[in-house]
Amino acid sequence: MSPAVPSTQDHAVPDSKIIIAIDGPAGAGKSTVARHLARHFGLLNLETGAMYRAFALKALRAGVSLDESFALEALAAKTTIHLVPAAGENRVFLDGQDVTGELRNPAVTDAASRVSVFPPVRAWMVRLQQQMASSGGVVMEGRDIGTVVFPHADVKIFLDAAPEVRGLRRFEQLGAQSASGSAQQPEEVIRDLRERDLRDRNRVDSPLKPAPDAVPLDSTKMTLEEVLRAAEAIVERRLAPRPESRPA
Ligand code: DC
Repeated sequence: MSPAVPSTQDHAVPDSKIIIAIDGPAGAGKSTVARHLARHFGLLNLETGAMYRAFALKALRAGVSLDESFALEALAAKTTIHLVPAAGENRVFLDGQDVTGELRNPAVTDAASRVSVFPPVRAWMVRLQQQMASSGGVVMEGRDIGTVVFPHADVKIFLDAAPEVRGLRRFEQLGAQSASGSAQQPEEVIRDLRERDLRDRNRVDSPLKPAPDAVPLDSTKMTLEEVLRAAEAIVERRLAPRPESRPA
C-alpha cells in the first residue's frame, strides 16, 4: 500500500493516531462526510468501497465468475490495490494502473456488491485495510469498518438515510460525473440501490450493520451542511477529555 499522506488540515485533533470509522449503506453520504472530517481534522481518508470496486473491475476484465469464491480468491492473490491521496477523492490504482474513472459505472457497482460477499475476498481486503491504517490518523469509510476492520476505532458513525433519498442523491451524483448525464433513470438507480442494500445487509460474512457503540446519524431530512456539522460534533464529543473521576 502507498504511504499515508494526510490531506490539508483545518483543525488539529488531540491525538493524530485516531481512527474514525464511518459505515452505512450506499448513497448515505459517507464519502462526503469522510472527506470533510479528514480535511477538518488533518487525517487520511480511506474509501474501502473503492477497493472492492477496483477488485470487481479486475474480475470483470479477467472474465472471472462473480459467483465463484475459489476463482475470486485466486484472482485476489494476483492483485494489488493502492489508494493514493489526491485533492477531492483518492486515486485508485489497480495493479499499478489508475482506474479511478472506471469505478462508478453500474456494472462495476453491481459487481463490487457481488464479489464482496465472499469471505476470502473480505479477509484479504480487511488485511489490506488494517495495514493501510496501521499507524492511525485515518477516517475509513465502508460497511464493516466499525464492526470488523477496526472494532476498537476511537469514533464510529453509522450514517443512514431513507432509500429514496439515497437513490436520488446517487442519481444526481452520477449525472454530475458524466457530461451526458446518468445513463439510468432515477427509478433504476433507486431499484439498484435497494438490491445492493439487501445484499450488503444480508450477507453472512460481515453484513452491513451498526456497531453497538456507533453513533447513528440519519441524514434523510438534513442539509449537507447540517450533516457535516453533526459529524464534526460527534467526533469532538467522542474525543473530548473526560472529566477525571474523583476518589470518593
Ligand atoms: O461504498 P461503495 O458503494 O463504493 O461500495 C461498493 C460495494 O463494496 C458495496 O456494495 C459493498 C462493498 N463494500 C463492502 O462490502 N465493505 C466495505 N467496507 C466497503 C464496500
